[in-house]
Amino acid sequence: MNFFRGHRTRHSESIRNLVRETQISARDFVYPLFITEEAHSSAITAMPGQGRHTLDDLPKIAQEIVNLKIPAVILFGIPLHKDEHATSAFADDGIVQKATGLLKTKFPSLCVITDVCLCEYTSHGHCGLLKENGELKNDASIERLAQVALSHAKAGADIVAPSDMMDGRVSAIRKTLDEAGFVNTPIMSYAAKYASAFYGPFRDAAGSTPQFGDRRGYQMDPANKQEALREIAADVSESADFIIVKPALCYLDVISQAKQNTSLPIVAYNVSGEYSMVKAASGAGYLDEKRTTMEILTSIKRAGADIIITYHAMEVARWLASENTL
Ligand code: PBG
Repeated sequence: MNFFRGHRTRHSESIRNLVRETQISARDFVYPLFITEEAHSSAITAMPGQGRHTLDDLPKIAQEIVNLKIPAVILFGIPLHKDEHATSAFADDGIVQKATGLLKTKFPSLCVITDVCLCEYTSHGHCGLLKENGELKNDASIERLAQVALSHAKAGADIVAPSDMMDGRVSAIRKTLDEAGFVNTPIMSYAAKYASAFYGPFRDAAGSTPQFGDRRGYQMDPANKQEALREIAADVSESADFIIVKPALCYLDVISQAKQNTSLPIVAYNVSGEYSMVKAASGAGYLDEKRTTMEILTSIKRAGADIIITYHAMEVARWLASENTL
């Protein structure tokens, strides 16, 4: 009888280790950090294990991140002041600017990526500037976003990551950075960002839920893949240096296709709702947390992601480190 015996390469741990095609490591991760201007750090209820950190508390967690050999963080600001112009998003003494300066001084080897968006800083919670009638002003917004990116670069950001989904923002940011001499500051573009229900816990954490309407006028329809490829091609032509696909799990096909279509590094954002689901189900005893998390992150990498932004980064790095010392 001649038939394929797949079990041959599966029946022992050592052979399975030999033929394993995808391996995740702490080096693959970017850890998201919420930095708050409030007086005290606080836990994020819907995201067990995650918190909003004050500047005072930031060095402690940054030290742990560095110790775990996670190479990068992405910063999100929670400002006290919001207005319709997103003034605190580009202030020299804004929360992200201060956090960036602090991290780069104390932990120069840690790569600091800053999320460039207006939604955490606008009183209405939308990612761009609005007209009186509530309509989005795309072209004015991209100038404002470029100002925000420049203020991050001046504060010392290693990479800026626009997540607003305005048209033309990669071009506008590149031009502004170059003119100010930041020719070597890369842009990690949220190129294919879907209008997703999975951002729910993040919006609670960052207080960035739109006060009216929704984001379907600028974020993408989950039904569309060709459109994602158009968005990615546009950002490549505007000279993005990294491409983000977000969220990750419902969009593994987009990650896979993006990897084939461009030679830029592909970043998958394993978003808040994806994290919360694992925490809720494992907290209730329905899923094995470690196995579920490892399977999810391995699958995102197998689909084609070179880098994964994930709230699981610290716990996974701890698990991997303890396995290596066995
Ligand atoms: C916008 C931004 C969002 C996330 C990252 N950047 C929220 C949104 O678009 O509503 C979501 C990340 C997550 O859910 O983990 N600044």
